[in-house]
Amino acid sequence: MPNSFFITTAIDYVNGSPHLGHAYEKILADAIARYYRNRGYAVFFLTGVDEHGQKVQQSAEKEKMEVKKFCDIQTEKFLQLWKKLHIHYDAFARTTHPSHVQYVRDALQKLADKGLIYFKEHEGYYSLRQEQFVTEKDLVDGKWPEIYGEVIKTKEPNYFFKLSAFSEWLKSYVRDNENWFIPQSKRKELLGALERPLADLCISRPVSRLSWGIPLPFDENYVTYVWFDALLNYVSFARKEGDNQGWWPAQLHVIGKDIFIPAHAIYWPIILKALELEQPKHFLIHGWWMNKGAKMSKSLGNFIDPLPYLEIFGADALRYYLLREMAFGQDADFADDKIWARYNSDLCNDLGNLVQRITVMIHKYRSGVIPSCLETMMEENEKELLDRDLFEKYCLSFEKYDIAQALQEIWQHIKKLNRYIENNAPWSLAKNSKQSQRLDCILLVSSICLKRYALLIDPVMPQTANKILSLLNIETKSWKLDDLFFAMDLAGKEISAPSPLFPRKVSS
Ligand code: ME8
Ligand code: MG
Repeated sequence: MPNSFFITTAIDYVNGSPHLGHAYEKILADAIARYYRNRGYAVFFLTGVDEHGQKVQQSAEKEKMEVKKFCDIQTEKFLQLWKKLHIHYDAFARTTHPSHVQYVRDALQKLADKGLIYFKEHEGYYSLRQEQFVTEKDLVDGKWPEIYGEVIKTKEPNYFFKLSAFSEWLKSYVRDNENWFIPQSKRKELLGALERPLADLCISRPVSRLSWGIPLPFDENYVTYVWFDALLNYVSFARKEGDNQGWWPAQLHVIGKDIFIPAHAIYWPIILKALELEQPKHFLIHGWWMNKGAKMSKSLGNFIDPLPYLEIFGADALRYYLLREMAFGQDADFADDKIWARYNSDLCNDLGNLVQRITVMIHKYRSGVIPSCLETMMEENEKELLDRDLFEKYCLSFEKYDIAQALQEIWQHIKKLNRYIENNAPWSLAKNSKQSQRLDCILLVSSICLKRYALLIDPVMPQTANKILSLLNIETKSWKLDDLFFAMDLAGKEISAPSPLFPRKVSS
């Protein structure tokens, strides 16, 4: 039985269209999933959409559309985009799916049976945008922060989940599990937040106000609070036939920083604890893509649409840019000049030209057949180019989920190989028959490096990886990184005719 790796993303609200922030998160999770598949793990990658709640209901009303119909149309946009971006998920969660709906109702009934849900008249402030109750403690300088949108005063009886009963448990769990959150600084943030007493969580909305949700199993006049519904997707869609727990617990939840506290760091662990389910192993919390320094938001109308960039650069280059440019755990600014620079310098010059150069030389000097060279004939710097160092640094970075770092390791090596070729000038050696063996070694070492780059970039740029492997006449399906990386059997392979991987582009 191979090691298994269950990874999830946030499920996106379908009230708007997919934007660059959504795309980034799915690309990040996809790259991690692909890495683990390449290492031979049994991977289950779950993503999806969050279809219930007030925001979705209101957006559908605005479009004068039946809500389910609206969700179908919006969901299709996400599915289309994921296809274009080569997001290779194993399951797609839609919270309107009947089996999910049933799972949520069963979970609520279980909590009610355990006495963890109670009914109470509640008077308070409600944020329409965040779909949550807020209190005066949330005011900043006497005003509701912009993230809450319109805040109204309401008085209505509702059902509450006894979150507060788990506050001490959560604190000690967080203290005992230092690496639960990545980056680690998030743990401090949570422990800080937990210093304030936890209020119980309102888990219902009256049907009179919101009908688009999962009816409570014990009171049909109420629907389930959208976050309670949404979080459970991580378990409900991970079940296997005859095995209710299936892939659960998740190895990694990939989420953005805005949904860390309270949803994922407080509600979710406590819901799981109350349901007697295991805790997820890790949370990876990413920053935000900003548009010229501003957060993308509905009110500013400044969402970046990934589609035009996909059309110009293709999926691989966009994936590369997003994963390379966002530093671990921080925000990043999306800028046209930066994506152009990455395309032309990293992809076109460094990688593309290198592949072109080496394959052209093999055709020109060795009739398209990769020559052989005994290891004993290799020089020190050649052995160094082929040592384990790159593989180990790369895996280490990926396992810390620091993809930008993993890419940097590859590109440092690419620059090293470029320098090595410059210094050895194979084009001069080719003119001297006494140097034939040296030239063989250079071409073989370079080919092995190219193959390795293809394997290593595969999680981020799967199409480019396949192109390079096909060029080298290597089987592109079902390889294992640990084996193929170290295989030295390229000599004698006939390679295909090269064509540019990343044609030079000029910004218009
Ligand atoms: O919060 N940069 O959905 P959502 C990077 N349905 N990531 C961003 C971003 C940006 N500018 N904007 C949004 C929800 N995201 C809930 C989740 S999970 C059980 C329910 C990320 O569509 C955001 O941080 O508002 C979140 O992880 C994801 O996109 C979906 O956001
Ligand atoms: Mg959001």
